[in-house]
Amino acid sequence: MTVDKIKNIYAFHSYFYDSIFGWLFSHGRLLAIKLMDIKPGQEILEVGVGTGVSLPHYPGHARVIGIDISKEMLEKAEGKKASMGLSNVEVHEMDAGRLDFADGRFDKVVAAHMISVVPDPLGVLREMKRVCKDDGEVYILNYMQASNGVVAWFERKISPFREALGLGKYTNFDALIKDADLVVDHIERVNFLDLCSLVVCRKRAL
Ligand SMILES: C[S@@+](CC[C@H](N)C(=O)[O-])C[C@H]1O[C@@H](n2cnc3c(N)ncnc32)[C@H](O)[C@@H]1O
Repeated sequence: MTVDKIKNIYAFHSYFYDSIFGWLFSHGRLLAIKLMDIKPGQEILEVGVGTGVSLPHYPGHARVIGIDISKEMLEKAEGKKASMGLSNVEVHEMDAGRLDFADGRFDKVVAAHMISVVPDPLGVLREMKRVCKDDGEVYILNYMQASNGVVAWFERKISPFREALGLGKYTNFDALIKDADLVVDHIERVNFLDLCSLVVCRKRAL
């Protein structure tokens, strides 16, 4: 799927995103922030921040930067920042595949329900790793399907329909994380019916 198509889909999603996916995915987002155990002054980058549903849940002592490719989704995030007085938050229009940040800047870098949406997930993961500190953490929260068997076969079949609706495509996260040379530190099933996973990665083993 092209970037323009993704932008069009999320311009449409921006009208109703929070009322469906806000609550549906809230368990995983809240758990991710809890596991981050953010210390005062730490900097967090959320790629594909969307309408900013997670933003009010970060502690006020953290500096949080959210980026997204969709202007319309970001307008909703800006609305939350203004109405809730989130002075520790800034959001920018940016492509997660070409992050305009220095190497090793952030303590935690998170992608919630966006890796399976982008055309080049490995490129995004490598960028997330690049801007993360050497002792920082990369959080991936996503619908993660079976990697083999009948269920996986079915999921691959319906993948083009999911993708057309902007709901992500079939993605082999095990292979992706290995190719990005990230080390899995923690993995936990989350959200409705445990359909999603939260994976916490490091740049190298502790
Ligand atoms: C399913 S939404 C997830 C939003 C939010 N992270 C959440 O937890 O609900 C996917 C988001 O990824 C964004 N996105 C897609 N491709 C992107 C890219 N290349 N760079 C930055 N954001 C992108 C979309 O605009 C959309 O806001």
